[in-house]
Amino acid sequence: MQSHTKILFVCLGNICRSPSAHGVMEHIIKSNSLEDKITVDSAGTSAYHEGELPDPRMRAHAARRGYELTHRSRKVRASDFEEFDYIIGMDDSNISNLKAMAPDLESEAKIYRMTDFSIKPTLDHVPDPYYSGADGFELVLDLLEDSCEGLLNHLLRNAFRPDKS
Ligand code: 4NP
Repeated sequence: MQSHTKILFVCLGNICRSPSAHGVMEHIIKSNSLEDKITVDSAGTSAYHEGELPDPRMRAHAARRGYELTHRSRKVRASDFEEFDYIIGMDDSNISNLKAMAPDLESEAKIYRMTDFSIKPTLDHVPDPYYSGADGFELVLDLLEDSCEGLLNHLLRNAFRPDKS
């Protein structure tokens, strides 16, 4: 049985979408007592906000749903492609930047799109909320709560199968 699955969520700045995915998924992992099976982290394709906490608007919207976002922004690094099993981008731009950074085909095969895991498909990406109003931040959380639940279902069906040792 695969002992541990490591997931990295990626967006542009690592201050809105990916730290929220990180917080939502951590909450789901804890609720299902899967801390010893799944680890999550998040990063940005840029270093624009290196070391910063998530955007205050994102933190406020997430807090209203019970998620405390305390991750500090960091840029994706080459070693992430070795360390993580799933590298999950939020939109086309994240995916193409990640593909350009992937050192080999094995690493490229780890790249997914967050909405690949949607249970109720509404949009094919998680839109950047940075220049939006409150609705944009709520939409991000709606999409992430649904797709993180779908990601857990995917992992339960696939990653933890006994034949994937
Ligand atoms: P994120 O949102 O990629 O979801 O963290 C953004 C954060 C910052 C910027 C753009 C998007 N920015 O241009 O600084």
